[in-house]
Amino acid sequence: METEVIQIAEHNIDEASQKSLFRAGKVIRDGGLVAFPTETVYGLGGDALNPESSRKIYAAKGRPSDNPLIVHVADMEHLETIVKEVPESARKLAKAFWPGPLTMIMNKNDKVPYETTGGLDTVAIRMPNNQIALELIRQSGGFIAAPSANTSGRPSPTVARYCVEDLSGKIEMIIDGGQVGIGLESTIVDLTSDVPMILRPGYITLEMLKEVLGQVDVDRTIIDGNSGQRPKAPGMKYRHYAPKGQLTIIQGEQSKVVEYINLHAKEASESGKKVGVIGTDSTKSLYHADVIKSVGDRKDEKTIAHELFKVLREFDDENIDIMFSESFDDSGFGQAIMNRLLKAAGHNVIII
Ligand code: TXA
Ligand code: MG
Repeated sequence: METEVIQIAEHNIDEASQKSLFRAGKVIRDGGLVAFPTETVYGLGGDALNPESSRKIYAAKGRPSDNPLIVHVADMEHLETIVKEVPESARKLAKAFWPGPLTMIMNKNDKVPYETTGGLDTVAIRMPNNQIALELIRQSGGFIAAPSANTSGRPSPTVARYCVEDLSGKIEMIIDGGQVGIGLESTIVDLTSDVPMILRPGYITLEMLKEVLGQVDVDRTIIDGNSGQRPKAPGMKYRHYAPKGQLTIIQGEQSKVVEYINLHAKEASESGKKVGVIGTDSTKSLYHADVIKSVGDRKDEKTIAHELFKVLREFDDENIDIMFSESFDDSGFGQAIMNRLLKAAGHNVIII
């Protein structure tokens, strides 16, 4: 299959772009797949109410079919038509955070096929805050099932180039809307339990959710990689966001971290490996390795989130065998950053 790539500027959707979005919508209505930008990461979209489309999504990503998809909507009325009931908590959160990087899990009704929910009776729903995404959802009938637009197991794409790399030849269309704003996937909160529970940390933090709902729990498996429990979001059990090389996180006092990384980078280099380091603006110049990248200012979590998946992909592009990364503060939005970094490292952390 030939994959068409079209460019659209999010803040300048002119007549030609409208026409392209109409065509993209028709591809989805006809059962095809379109990769598109959201404010978090690029999504791989198909008609959420068409079981055949969901099957195609799993096939294109090489994703296990027990891992449910998120349904993207563009207005509240549409949400009402695919769930048993909209809980009061969902209305409050939608008012506070939609459109935005928050996915809510509710009880589905018969309109949503089990192919989309990986066999579950619940459905994950979000309204993305991106004009291209919202218009595409409207043009395609109102419900787009979209996982991140990467091959299963690879870091989520934050630019269209990486969708092309992973999905070219496998889907009908890719909409290039430039680099995404946030760079990490949405926060997922389960509203089907007595106390709402965060299943995946993201830009909308525990503190922000508590401000609206009062009590909110966090799935233990997010915090403790060795808890031995099964994550409640099926996708969180997979070794996700994985770069091709081996990544180790080094945690400790900054000067010791730099010393440790330099020593081990040298050893790895001497044994013929290509070594990469993930540092920050203030430490970048202190490292010696084949490739050294900064994810930004340590205090600027938005930039770190924005850069992380891109940097991991760049190390892949440069065929890096061994990577070392500094560790980051894991409170607030930092919890999402550390969750993704730990998964990318397969929870391989050295504390010094
Ligand atoms: O920001 C995002 O959420 C991006 C953009 C494209 O919207 N999408 C995304 O989708 O990250 P995906 O498929 O890569 O991750 C969806 C996660 C998986 O871990 C999946 O197991 C979980 O959501 N999930 C989906 N439906 C669920 C459900 N009914 N119950 C529990 N977990 C669910
Ligand atoms: Mg994903």
